[in-house]
Amino acid sequence: MNVMVTGGAGYIGSHAVQRLLRDGHTVVCVDNLSRGHREPMDLLSDDRLTFAPGDLSDKSLLSRLLAGHEIDTIMHFAALTYVGESVQQPLAYYRNNTAGALNLLEAADAVGVERFVFSSTAATYGEPPPERIPIQEDCPQEPINPYGQSKLAVERILTDWASARRAAGRPVAFAALRYFNVAGCDRSGVLGEDHDPETHLIPVVLQACLGQREAVTMFGTDYPTPDGTCIRDYVHVEDLIDAHVHTMLALRPGDARRYNLGIGAGYSVRQIIDAVRAVTGVEFEVREGARRPGDPPSLFADPSRIRADLGWSAATRDVHEIVETAWKWFKAHPHGYAST
Ligand code: UFG
Repeated sequence: MNVMVTGGAGYIGSHAVQRLLRDGHTVVCVDNLSRGHREPMDLLSDDRLTFAPGDLSDKSLLSRLLAGHEIDTIMHFAALTYVGESVQQPLAYYRNNTAGALNLLEAADAVGVERFVFSSTAATYGEPPPERIPIQEDCPQEPINPYGQSKLAVERILTDWASARRAAGRPVAFAALRYFNVAGCDRSGVLGEDHDPETHLIPVVLQACLGQREAVTMFGTDYPTPDGTCIRDYVHVEDLIDAHVHTMLALRPGDARRYNLGIGAGYSVRQIIDAVRAVTGVEFEVREGARRPGDPPSLFADPSRIRADLGWSAATRDVHEIVETAWKWFKAHPHGYAST
């Protein structure tokens, strides 16, 4: 297939580019490099990869690429993804995530792209009540921050677009993949996770192991969970991309699919810290801190819909294995891609 990957120079998008090339697809990657890195593009260099530096606001670039490369599928990863930042800069989130997706979709619609795989998020569920955990796809979507809102708006745009096209007798297909906590790095050791600033739990703890942070702070130890810390569903980035490929290959005209991508089990912050200690053998200081605003106590997926529909489930179920893949890359790249 001819696939456009937006945000393909970022953490998750670059893993998608790698997998699509391995599977023999042709890839056009669009990334404005505001959060992504040029290095993965160089590392993945291939005759079947075109890297087009550019922004989703540049509709003429998008139209040219879509038509010129006869794109049949879009995997749309490009987005701003920090919950806290979205509260401080909501307009930037709606512009990048919602208006950016709309621009892309208008360009895609005009040239007749028929498959759209969208990176959505568990943040669209907001703070589900305990009886809704594990979360199924029919859980009400009530985001509690602009990040989740900006992604939910795109899900709704896709739904309306698909309905209109179906009614017009020109059906298209889309999937909204709602990610839980994506973690780990590519097992061949080429691609990694390089955010600035880094706020995600596993990389933060690994940076403490490397001596780059004085200590790790657990944000809240008084939650109504077995050990008092928040519980999340950590899914390996390569498994997550495997779900994208399963979805892309299954999409048929008229499909409107919505899937949770997680392993279906939760780990607490303390359990993650213990797993990092066990994998790395490094001691580091752990502090008990205040709760981080907006963190729900427990959030994990019921991923049974995608298993039933497409036969996908996460191959890596042990968080130690996920941490090992990340540790391998962090040790080799203590300063991210700049170390290469
Ligand atoms: N945490 C700490 N200390 C840290 C960093 C994180 O205790 O230094 C805790 C957080 O409070 C949270 C857990 O570790 O309880 C996981 O936090 P992350 O920041 O790694 O991830 P989040 O669950 O906040 O966010 C992830 C994605 C978001 C997405 C959200 C959906 O990164 O993009 O899941 O719920 F919106």
